[in-house]
Amino acid sequence: MGLKPKPQVLFGRKEIEATVSRLAAEIRSDYHDKHPVLVGILKGAFVFLADLIRLLDFPLEVEFIRLSSYGKGKESSGKIRVVQGLDSEVKGRHVLIIEDIVDSGLTTTFLLDYLLQKKPASIRVCSLTSKPSRRKSPVTISYLGFTVPDKFLVGYGLDSGEEFRNLPDICFIGGDK
Ligand code: IMP
Ligand code: MG
Repeated sequence: MGLKPKPQVLFGRKEIEATVSRLAAEIRSDYHDKHPVLVGILKGAFVFLADLIRLLDFPLEVEFIRLSSYGKGKESSGKIRVVQGLDSEVKGRHVLIIEDIVDSGLTTTFLLDYLLQKKPASIRVCSLTSKPSRRKSPVTISYLGFTVPDKFLVGYGLDSGEEFRNLPDICFIGGDK
């Protein structure tokens, strides 16, 4: 066993629960009569999306898309491609992208361009977290959970090399900043 970084809690589960409830209320007020398509970005957004949709008591659909952006490293390569696309049409639909984290913004910018080509009625971004200090491409996040410092986050769906997605809190690994 080598020395593994021990994740430190940044936002605990109670705080996450309150934040997801707040986002659900905001989304409800804008989308309750729009039958939106929520597009979750695999894999990181699956825990957030699962909690969020159970607080949305109106008709909606869920789709997933899988993009490759990071390869095996922690830095975005900037070369993004669709690994697994959508199963249903988004033409004419109100689309809400559900992200785990907007870091450089390159992934979200790519996805917005990709989905806009499919002519949705509207498109917006909901992200659990955002690291504005890392932005390379500006992104408007209409529904944002937490603004986070420049630390590497894990837990609540977020991973480091596929590890730690199962932690119930949002944690960080690496040194303090
Ligand atoms: P971006 O293209 O740099 O904005 O990165 C977006 C993707 O990188 C996210 O959807 C995550 O999957 C991953 N990512 C960025 N920062 C972190 C982090 O701190 N922890 C875990 N994954 C991250
Ligand atoms: Mg990831």
